[in-house]
Amino acid sequence: MSKLCLCLTAKTIQRNLEILSKYRKFTDLAELRVDCLDPDERLYIRRFPELAGLPVILTIRRDVDGGHFTGGEGARVKLLANGLAYANTDSRYNYAYVDIEDDFEVPSLEEAARTFGTKIIRSCHSLNGFIENIPKKMRTMQRSGDEIVKIAVAVKSANDVLQVLKASKKIIAHNKILICMGHYGIYSRVLADRFGSYLSYASALSESEVPGAPGQMDICELAELYRVQRITNKTKVYGLIGYPLKASVSPWFFNTIFSLENTDAVYVPFPTDSINDILEITEGLDVKGLSVTVPYKEAIIPKLIKSSEIVQAIGACNTLSRIDEGWYGDNTDCGGFSESLLHFINRKNLKYLKTTIVGAGGVARSVASEIHRLGGKALILNRTVYKAKNIASKYSFKWGGLDNQGIEMMSKFNDIIIQTSSVGMEGYEASDPLDLYSFTGDEVVMDLIYVPPVTPFLRRAMSAGCKTFNGYDMVIRQACMQYANFTGTEIPQKILSQINTTGANAWNKIRSA
Ligand code: ATR
Repeated sequence: MSKLCLCLTAKTIQRNLEILSKYRKFTDLAELRVDCLDPDERLYIRRFPELAGLPVILTIRRDVDGGHFTGGEGARVKLLANGLAYANTDSRYNYAYVDIEDDFEVPSLEEAARTFGTKIIRSCHSLNGFIENIPKKMRTMQRSGDEIVKIAVAVKSANDVLQVLKASKKIIAHNKILICMGHYGIYSRVLADRFGSYLSYASALSESEVPGAPGQMDICELAELYRVQRITNKTKVYGLIGYPLKASVSPWFFNTIFSLENTDAVYVPFPTDSINDILEITEGLDVKGLSVTVPYKEAIIPKLIKSSEIVQAIGACNTLSRIDEGWYGDNTDCGGFSESLLHFINRKNLKYLKTTIVGAGGVARSVASEIHRLGGKALILNRTVYKAKNIASKYSFKWGGLDNQGIEMMSKFNDIIIQTSSVGMEGYEASDPLDLYSFTGDEVVMDLIYVPPVTPFLRRAMSAGCKTFNGYDMVIRQACMQYANFTGTEIPQKILSQINTTGANAWNKIRSA
């Protein structure tokens, strides 16, 4: 079980104490980042552990290591000595840990720390280049058995994270902290325990102070949503693979359910640039189930050991469950989409209705297959026309490009318009993929995107008087199906109603925080 460490980066001692008191209930220990304090405030660091009333790490991070300390090494040693001076026989009044770097050479200071029970965290921060042999580096860093060795590497790909994970498995012998800094490594902070890390650092991001390090997550998010302090090797891990993964409700949805049910499980985002690497990582982390999103719904298929009939028929997969031999693939987008659309238009099928599908990626495959199953007819328009043709010809649908010619064809397919492309999604360009089309106001318009809740496309449809809705309802419906797929049980109705009543509001609150 990893501890949660609140990184304090305010300019004054007083402000740090205020932040600590606000988040104390989530905090196992705090790190005082002396380098972030105003110079005058640095004179008062000695009493901080006593004022904080919990174990504190004393850290003065240099600018070369990603911190803010720009004075010389002599000044830094003096400050560290100030922090450790006048040690009390009651160790609660001393710093519990001091973070000193791999290249720090002041044996007397280390000796003084040890004498009064201050543990040494021996750290190495690699911001620009990857550390090739992490186990070797850790072995050479550790100067005595009681030190905690910390390596924080800026990761630029899933492969970098994979190397860190492999290293963590090789060095099980001693206390260590391994952090993958940056977006690709976000799950190393949630699953710190699986990475063999003694602790996970977090920031109070809703305060105005700077985050302690790139990719550091909010303490409330780590403690409340991901329940990091409860994760052990028995916790069932599920997650979501895709990129950039900045616009998904799933972590909130699944973790809220696990928490309401008091289930020992967690759902984690796994942003990735490589399917092979993320599959190796999730196997290494003993992940039991995965949701798949943009842009991997089609590319994942060759990696599956088995798949459902629907995946084989439409060529898109958004749900992976772990079976003995590997991954079993299923598709819950189909069911989620049709349930959501039929509910909105209050019908049981799509007979006599003509639809335009915008986009021809993985999710468009599910949409097209369901429209066909429900007796509807469709026109598929996509930037890359051959992809629209590939899907359309399976169902004798029409196809075209997002150009004048394609738009002209829409006059016969405009009962319902379904936007499935990633245009307008947070993290992608905020334009309107159908800007050449003028809405009549009679269309039913669905945008599968729900972050932001209203895309430029949906806003234009609303202004024209169309009946509009976004993909939030669909994603919740498909996630319920995914839950059943992952766990073999349905979400209890009582819990689902709790989520449905407070869900959209709570989710929007998280989004706007
Ligand atoms: P998903 O699995 O969610 O469907 P995807 O397979 O990556 O995601 O598909 C993304 C869709 O958004 C595709 O239809 C893509 O069009 P192309 O096939 O031409 O790539 C569409 N898309 C992405 N960016 C676009 C843009 N700037 N303009 C128009 N369409 C775009």
